[in-house]
Amino acid sequence: MEICLTSPLDMHLHLRDTTMLRLAAPLSSDFAGAVVMPNLVPPLTNAADMLAYAQRIREATPAGVNFDPLMTLFFTAMNEQELAAAQEAPGFFGLKLYPAGITTNSEGGVSNLADAHRTLSIMEERAIPLLVHGESHGFVMDREEEFLGIYRQLATKYPKLRISMEHITTAAALQLLDEFENLCATVTLQHLIITLDDIAGGMLQPHLFCKPIAKRPADRDALLQAALNAHPRLMFGSDSAPHPRCKKESCGCAAGCFTSPLSLPKLAELFATHGKLDNLQAFVCDNACNIHGLTPSSKRVILHDQPMQVPSSYRSYGETVVPMFAGEQLPWSVKSIRES
Ligand code: DOR
Ligand code: ZN
Repeated sequence: MEICLTSPLDMHLHLRDTTMLRLAAPLSSDFAGAVVMPNLVPPLTNAADMLAYAQRIREATPAGVNFDPLMTLFFTAMNEQELAAAQEAPGFFGLKLYPAGITTNSEGGVSNLADAHRTLSIMEERAIPLLVHGESHGFVMDREEEFLGIYRQLATKYPKLRISMEHITTAAALQLLDEFENLCATVTLQHLIITLDDIAGGMLQPHLFCKPIAKRPADRDALLQAALNAHPRLMFGSDSAPHPRCKKESCGCAAGCFTSPLSLPKLAELFATHGKLDNLQAFVCDNACNIHGLTPSSKRVILHDQPMQVPSSYRSYGETVVPMFAGEQLPWSVKSIRES
């Protein structure tokens, strides 16, 4: 069995910078493009820094490989001129809002939503998408559900603002998606597969620890059904986040799963197992193009049901990163990629 995907997109990706960027970019560029997150140290908050980072991403991408970095800025209060400058920058995609301190490198995020009002109004006028890490500071299993009220407020107050609920993890978030036409959402690979049990139900599995944390079986199952059935406002966003091995296998494990190199084979396996391969193109590209009006670079990725050996780690430029499914054999793999 095989499937040919046209220009698959990863709508939520962390590439980092310097040596980690050089490791991660080639391992992420089976996709035709990706929405690249701005939570660098310091975060990307202006068009000039964003353009320089996009250039470093291009330099880290192997020659001859089509990979469009769709760039985001870290949400801070921005005025009309600053947003105009961002919007004029080639490759600009949107603003990513983090509640202050909610996850990796988000200390400079938003503490009081009222302070964001002016910026959100301009974004709405200018049709700039808002991407949101939607978690409260409450009990870890309830953080996403507690945040849904804020999504509801935003979707109501700014009816023309396109709001992407990033990496949703609950059945409740899916329900909200169906209530507001100006909401869309991304979902990761791991949240279609694992629950909290896989992380902490037996021996602790640091490489599966990410934020938002994986939830209950009913949540995982609802997300999987929505993806398999190509819910038109649900897009694949890996949230693949490379952390050095020593930061994951440590006391105080960093949040993030590294999935980029195996996302497409694993998605093909999941969709094939459920007899839904025909819906994979919508989930990994067409929905995003319809929602955001994207025209990705052309690329054809053929996947087939031949095994892929996932390495125990990826090492280059002095960095070592352990992927999800490290050391395992997956039933599907990339057969070929045509960059045209
Ligand atoms: O698990 C996560 N890792 N969640 C995030 O929101 C951020 C990301 C990272 O940057 O490592
Ligand atoms: Zn992320």
